[in-house]
Amino acid sequence: MHTVIKPKILYFGTSVVLISTMNPDSTPNLAPMSSAWWLNQSCMLGMSSKSQTVQNIIREQECVINLPASNLTEAVDRLTLLTGRSPVPETKAALSYQYEPDKFGVAELTPLASQTVRPPRVQECPIHLEATLVKVHPFEEPSSLVAMEVRIDKVHIKDSLLMEGHPHYVDPAKWNPMIMNFCEYFGLSEQRPASKLAPVFGP
Ligand SMILES: Cc1cc2nc3c(=O)[nH]c(=O)nc-3n(C[C@H](O)[C@H](O)[C@H](O)COP(=O)(O)O)c2cc1C
Repeated sequence: MHTVIKPKILYFGTSVVLISTMNPDSTPNLAPMSSAWWLNQSCMLGMSSKSQTVQNIIREQECVINLPASNLTEAVDRLTLLTGRSPVPETKAALSYQYEPDKFGVAELTPLASQTVRPPRVQECPIHLEATLVKVHPFEEPSSLVAMEVRIDKVHIKDSLLMEGHPHYVDPAKWNPMIMNFCEYFGLSEQRPASKLAPVFGP
């Protein structure tokens, strides 16, 4: 049996990422989001253009996509309902969002210099992707949503996630991404039986 429903949100489970960008005053902004997916060496980031992050990426053409492991939920939660945009847009103010100029400070996360872009990486995240903007794809009007296509220029991986004997491969058994499943956080459960893709794309 399946039942037809009208869910308010369709967040069926995706990775949480923290996007760092530069504000106009050269301070860093940091925002959690979970509408991110990867294809080849590119990433598509779905966000409201009312966010400071989108404004910063369009102006500066660059960002860092930091991937928290599932144990960083408290830091992500400290960033929740905050915006680096002042004044706070009306729609966000109605949802109790507050302006916060020091996102790294309130999240208790450490900025780490990037190599090819100005926004800093998040030291506590095991994966950092330095990226440049390729194209902005607006959603259908009157939505304020955009999908930002970014090219990943530099990939930093914590050594403990690497596959033994294969320096350019992440060991999936060692990486436990933070997943937002509807509005709750999850880690991954156990590995399932063999995938036919593994021998094709693996080491
Ligand atoms: C776990 C999580 C996932 C989120 N996913 C998205 C998302 O995919 N797209 C989006 O526009 N906002 C998302 N948000 C809300 C943004 O974090 C929020 O709009 C924030 O104010 C953006 O910060 P900024 O205005 O400083 O860029 C998410 C928030 C959390 C906590």
